[in-house]
Amino acid sequence: MLAGKTVLLGVSGGIAAYKAVAVCSQLVQRGAEVHVLMTSAATRFVTPLTFQAISGHPVLTDLLTEQHYGHVDHVHLAHRADLMVIAPATANLLARLAAGQADDPVTALALAVRCPVLVAPAMEPNMYAHPATQANIARLRQYGYHILEPAEGRMASGRYGKGRLPEPEAIVAAAMDLLRPRDLEGRRVLVTAGPTREPLDPVRFLSNRSTGKMGYAIARAAAARGAEVVLVSGPTALPDPPGVEIVRVESALEMHREVMARADWLEVAVGAAAVADWRPAVYHEQKMKKQDGPLVVELVRNPDIMADLGARKRPGQVLVAFAAETTDLDSHARQKLTSKNADLVVANDVTEPGSGFGTDTNRVRIYHRDGREEALPLLTKDEVADAILDRVAALLAGGNR
Ligand code: C5P
Repeated sequence: MLAGKTVLLGVSGGIAAYKAVAVCSQLVQRGAEVHVLMTSAATRFVTPLTFQAISGHPVLTDLLTEQHYGHVDHVHLAHRADLMVIAPATANLLARLAAGQADDPVTALALAVRCPVLVAPAMEPNMYAHPATQANIARLRQYGYHILEPAEGRMASGRYGKGRLPEPEAIVAAAMDLLRPRDLEGRRVLVTAGPTREPLDPVRFLSNRSTGKMGYAIARAAAARGAEVVLVSGPTALPDPPGVEIVRVESALEMHREVMARADWLEVAVGAAAVADWRPAVYHEQKMKKQDGPLVVELVRNPDIMADLGARKRPGQVLVAFAAETTDLDSHARQKLTSKNADLVVANDVTEPGSGFGTDTNRVRIYHRDGREEALPLLTKDEVADAILDRVAALLAGGNR
């Protein structure tokens, strides 16, 4: 996913420097070329050798030593960088960045690059809350740096507060957001995600195994690509994706209402929700009492949200439906292109290992309206999200008429 991208990873001298090792490793695993820059304090926490072994490149620790690249190193790297990530950024480093100092490889490169810079502050909570630190962060924002808020929780000191470096996965996800193409700039995208809950009584409902991961990945990626995103989500345990307006609903009827209210607004709709096809015909206002013998519950059909959007689709709108199947993937997927008037159907066999509910990966086939069919390899849900949005962007660019 990051193949061909050059990422500079600046590490300053805080306890959380050890987490930068995992950040480095995950960036490398995703295909990025990573060059690590360290302040001298950082080298007291983690050795340059560790980063060198993981990145496969020399680590810059001193601006005034021999040059690795035959030129002035920081100029050479600055011109090649697609992204700079500074994690952890200590209070001291933030102050020096805000002052525009350039007395170590991290601050010098931050001045020299023209690519996006992601800064992940991490420090003791009082230091973070101090007006001086907050003023420095505000100034960095003015300069266009992207600040990743520290997490709240237990600090290395044993105290609790806000100042923890976010987990490496969150830093890498934020880094990937900044590396995405901005090819959906200003586009209005609606995504449905998660399961729905169909209530029987105040304590019971019918639902399904959807976790919402696929839809959340699409919403996040679309926002990172510049879109204005509304995520209509059934109940999930997932955090709100950054930069996305989230509308939380429970039942299919609620989801239908929230989506249809935006039918004229949207340019793109992606139906990643596992909407319950039926709901109990009767909702019992009071908890149903246990009784001897079987219970018969009558179910009635829910509206089909994507089909309703499809029925009133206007030229230029792009609709993407999902097909989660256990048999006859091909024919079911093709049939959904017509029944939902969709432009793309993303189909997966949910019985296959690594695909479907609750996994972080998916193996999908994409069916196009013009008859084309693509079989994608096993990918992470983030990668699938970008693959879908690549095709959506192409359809939008072509006018989709
Ligand atoms: O017809 P089926 O449920 O297999 O179609 C799946 C696709 O339709 C998904 O995109 C899903 O989000 C959408 N859907 C919907 N409303 C329903 C049922 C499915 O929007 N009631």
